[in-house]
Amino acid sequence: MASSQTTRRLWRNVTLFDGLEQLPEPMVVLVEQGRVVGLWPESGFDPSLARGAKEAASGGVMTPGLVDCHTHLVYAGDRAGEFEQRLEGVSYETIARAGGGILSSVRATRAASEDELIAASLPRLDALLADGVTTLEIKSGYGLTVDSELKMLRVARRLGELRPVRVLTTLLGAHALPPEYAGRADDYVSLVCDAMIPAAAREGLADAVDVFCEGIGFSPAQCGRIYQAAQAHGLAIKAHAEQLSNLGGSALAARYGALSADHIEYLDEAGVRAMAEAGTVAVLLPGAFHVLRETQLPPIELLRQYGVPMAVASDANPGTSPICMPTLMANLACTLFRLTPREALAGMTAHGARALGHPELGRIAAGAPADLCLWDIQQPAELAYAVQTGRLRQRVFNGKVVYA
Ligand code: NIG
Ligand code: FE
Repeated sequence: MASSQTTRRLWRNVTLFDGLEQLPEPMVVLVEQGRVVGLWPESGFDPSLARGAKEAASGGVMTPGLVDCHTHLVYAGDRAGEFEQRLEGVSYETIARAGGGILSSVRATRAASEDELIAASLPRLDALLADGVTTLEIKSGYGLTVDSELKMLRVARRLGELRPVRVLTTLLGAHALPPEYAGRADDYVSLVCDAMIPAAAREGLADAVDVFCEGIGFSPAQCGRIYQAAQAHGLAIKAHAEQLSNLGGSALAARYGALSADHIEYLDEAGVRAMAEAGTVAVLLPGAFHVLRETQLPPIELLRQYGVPMAVASDANPGTSPICMPTLMANLACTLFRLTPREALAGMTAHGARALGHPELGRIAAGAPADLCLWDIQQPAELAYAVQTGRLRQRVFNGKVVYA
């Protein structure tokens, strides 16, 4: 008997956004064994090409499954009180320097068991899936000890087993200086380089290593040490850079061949050029910009001029972006950063996948993994234009309809 994986499935008459462009006419899409076999214009389609295929649906807008390439989905506790403080005028940096912010999530996350973290994170994951996500990245960074960072990464991997979704994991040991290392940042960086990265690599728990290159995070020199250790262990590199100031963290990351530099509100032209030369993706995080009520805009026009691919992600986290709705991010990328709806959608599909080092995802093309979304809308731009739940008719993961 054919398993659901080997069943041939056919979508008819879909308006298709392939990850980069909207195709000019309604399309037929054939899927088999977890892959897209082919796509053809509906007009003049020869049904013998899809002999034996089961029609999965007809009509609607089809996009690649959404790729959320930057999240901090695993954490315990909440930071609603800090949100109120910020509304009263206290800055994110002031709260961080006083031991709140990231460190307050660290206290809650260290105290939580793996099962408690799973229970806290699953509803957030389910919200992302209900809005079309088929691949996401999850960072550690609220543990800041070897054991608790590995605990977060194990939880992230387990989430990927509990739901039909691809999870890539990133070690963010250099997210903040834990209190027990106060005044000894270089020693903490040694712990990240000499213990966390080797352990995460040995246990196969991390796909990449990230840093927070910032005045309230780590210096470029410290980030460079971490990148060297990551590369020595065969792990990809990413950066939180130029979020609150310009330390040249994106150019540094690019020099190390980083997959992406993320946030980048304060990025300058030299940084854009370095990213273009290295093929480093710019990950825009409009949720954090919105929640922190930032005013410094990322250099979108320069990124366009230099041809740097722009991804868009949720940055879902308890502090700067407690938002688990990727299509809202598409809307914010347009309204706040002036991306076009096409750019925003490419940012959440093809370019998001590149930011994770998986360019085969986030595309609808013959031979690509069949991670797809079918939406009850008239045209792809509506995903960025309207903010609404309940528009996802089908989520297809690895060729199988998992949400209908
Ligand atoms: O991407 N900037 C640093 N890291 C996160 C925020 C984490 C937090 O505040 O808990 C970010 O914005
Ligand atoms: Fe982040």
